[in-house]
Amino acid sequence: MKQKVNPPVVITEDCIACQRCVAICPSFVLEMVEAKAAVVRGDWCIGCEHCGAVCPTAAILHEGAVLDGHPSKGEVPATSPENLELLLRERRSVRLYTSDPVPEEILNKILNAGRYAPTGSNSENVHYTAVTSPDQIAELRKKTITFYDKMFSRIRGRFGMLIVSLVAGRKIAEYLRESLPKMEYANELIRQGKDRLFHHAPVVILAHAESWDRSSSFNCSVALYNCSLMAHSLGLGCCFNGFLVNAANHSSKIKRWLGIPADHKCYAAMTLGFPDVKYLRLVHRYPARVGQPAPGEGAKQSNAN
Ligand SMILES: Cc1cc2nc3c(=O)[nH]c(=O)nc-3n(C[C@H](O)[C@H](O)[C@H](O)COP(=O)(O)O)c2cc1C
Repeated sequence: MKQKVNPPVVITEDCIACQRCVAICPSFVLEMVEAKAAVVRGDWCIGCEHCGAVCPTAAILHEGAVLDGHPSKGEVPATSPENLELLLRERRSVRLYTSDPVPEEILNKILNAGRYAPTGSNSENVHYTAVTSPDQIAELRKKTITFYDKMFSRIRGRFGMLIVSLVAGRKIAEYLRESLPKMEYANELIRQGKDRLFHHAPVVILAHAESWDRSSSFNCSVALYNCSLMAHSLGLGCCFNGFLVNAANHSSKIKRWLGIPADHKCYAAMTLGFPDVKYLRLVHRYPARVGQPAPGEGAKQSNAN
């Protein structure tokens, strides 16, 4: 749960009654009182700071807010659509890393990028576990592989397959069974010292949050994606890791070992390091599949371009 938010403070004499803060607030905190903006429902404030950000006279203060050092605000938006598209298409899942460790200040800069991701109700509820010690990464790898060994040995048998179908659903059970040959192959490579799980990355990061919150999954995923873009812009690479997310959530041993609280769930994980690969061409992807609601007929699918 987010710690209590301090509502904004309006410097009444600086307010020019433009009402922008009242219009922008998603939580009905501000209203015009005697032709000046005023905080009337401070308890409802989620601390998003939209009001202060739109105020032309800086008449709104966010007291108690954590003040970030930041580059001075320049042109808006900060990047062009062309540059952004390039950035999005350049970012690839990096599975080849150099053996260079990631300096702490770079890791912090990357994790810092997650703080600016949106969170439902501005809960800012994302927590990170960063594993940076080679011994600990090796231990985590071992634990994760043991977890999958057990799971795959179950789905080899009919009875185990039935249990997995009942617990996780038929589609997942079938997916796992189809993945068996690939998993066995990857396992063999791992036995030969080729880390096909964490790709010999010097850092493994997990994002976790309270599981009661329906936004936690999105919050963690988007935060880590922000981190991955920052990593890319700093010349590092990342690869999301669904295997680890699944293992951390289904093995209480792994979850405890990672220091993830019992009431949290892990929603995203990734490896991080300096890439030992250069992508010479941009990625191609299918056109966006966009549906339109057509009452009575079901949604019609069309492509965006
Ligand atoms: C939720 C999620 C889980 C993923 N899990 C893994 C994983 O466990 N191992 C891996 O090598 N790649 C993993 N990936 C990377 C995808 O395979 C990759 O994003 C996809 O192939 C597209 O490649 P690109 O990211 O380079 O564009 C994952 C990606 C996502 C979004």
